[in-house]
Amino acid sequence: MAKKKSSGGSKRTEKKIGFSTTCIHTGQEPDPSTGAVVVPIFATSTYVQEELGKNKGYEYARVSNPTRTCLETNLAALEGGTSAHVFASGMAAVTAVTQCFLKQGDHLICGHNVYGGVPRYFNQVMANYGVEFSYVDTSDLDAVKKAMRRNTRILWVETPTNPLMVLTDIKEVARIAHDGGAELVVDNTFMSPYFQRPLALGADMVMHSTTKFLNGHSDGLGGVIAATKPIHAEKLAFMQKTSGAILSPFECWLVLRGVKSLAVRMVKHDENGREVAEYLRGHRKVKQVLYPGFSDHPQHALAKKQMTGFGSMITFETGSLSNAKKMLAKVRVCTLAESLGGVETLISHPATMTHAALGEKGRKQIGLTDGMVRISVGIEDVDDLLADLDQALAAI
Ligand SMILES: Cc1ncc(COP(=O)(O)O)c(C=O)c1O
Repeated sequence: MAKKKSSGGSKRTEKKIGFSTTCIHTGQEPDPSTGAVVVPIFATSTYVQEELGKNKGYEYARVSNPTRTCLETNLAALEGGTSAHVFASGMAAVTAVTQCFLKQGDHLICGHNVYGGVPRYFNQVMANYGVEFSYVDTSDLDAVKKAMRRNTRILWVETPTNPLMVLTDIKEVARIAHDGGAELVVDNTFMSPYFQRPLALGADMVMHSTTKFLNGHSDGLGGVIAATKPIHAEKLAFMQKTSGAILSPFECWLVLRGVKSLAVRMVKHDENGREVAEYLRGHRKVKQVLYPGFSDHPQHALAKKQMTGFGSMITFETGSLSNAKKMLAKVRVCTLAESLGGVETLISHPATMTHAALGEKGRKQIGLTDGMVRISVGIEDVDDLLADLDQALAAI
């Protein structure tokens, strides 16, 4: 498994394989020792050594594990990177990046509307180690340029943002970061590599909470950093070994299993997302729908330029906390829960759930209201979703 491909073969076999084939086969070759079609879960903490200094490439499971190698090979290929390193959660992946690439006196520019746990970690943990942070609207390229300092090392971007669905032009911010000697990291969790490939647009690293679309079944946490430069791979592997916040073999296996159906899931997520967005826009109790697939979304043109679909993340305005509460108490097919990207439709209230840590003032600054509801449209029969939303919105 995860063996190097032979260099022989006809033109047809040399042709770059497609995305779905990569999902299903890259890193996921049958196990050479048994022929098992599915990558085994290597539940081992250590590996026998033939003699001192002689092993089969694995010494201790914090450093490496064959199930993990298969997943990392697969995810690197999906993002168009040369390496991927998986961690115990999306936040553990964020932590690894900061520990690898920032030191006291360095500066990081972060989008002002990213997953709430990211600024919480930056402000309440990393700031204590002398790292400086600025928060800017990364969709505003002049604001990003102005925020750059001599000590800026990383530009951290989430696009589209969570939950306001604001896009950042990846190519342009990569240029700004590189001109200032910094590196661009893009959180690609919302789109998955099926719809957006930040490395191809100039990003230096791509981060995911694999908990979401990559796993796709809401049954395990995880995080990954994909990259193209050997120095990134080297430092991230060092951090896995040194800080140890690695993904367990079982959870690697869950992501390997989930990722096989990524392409078909994303197509269905996108299809259902379009219908749900249209339905919500036409509902008289819904005041606004934030969805980049609408032709009147202020960044629809950018969405079409840098994404190949619109995904299934939609935020809509119910008008007040009380309205949001009323409707969320009534949903039956949609599941009221934090998280996103599962096969099941997950619906949540950002102000009291994912973005509670921002505080009222912080939420106001970015335009996140108490009436906003976020929906991660799943792959159920769309008529059942629409009927469920219909009866829930009737409660307002
Ligand atoms: C966009 C985004 N990035 C990062 C994270 C953090 O990932 P995890 O919950 O796997 O630690 C989340 C979690 O919701 C997220 O939505």
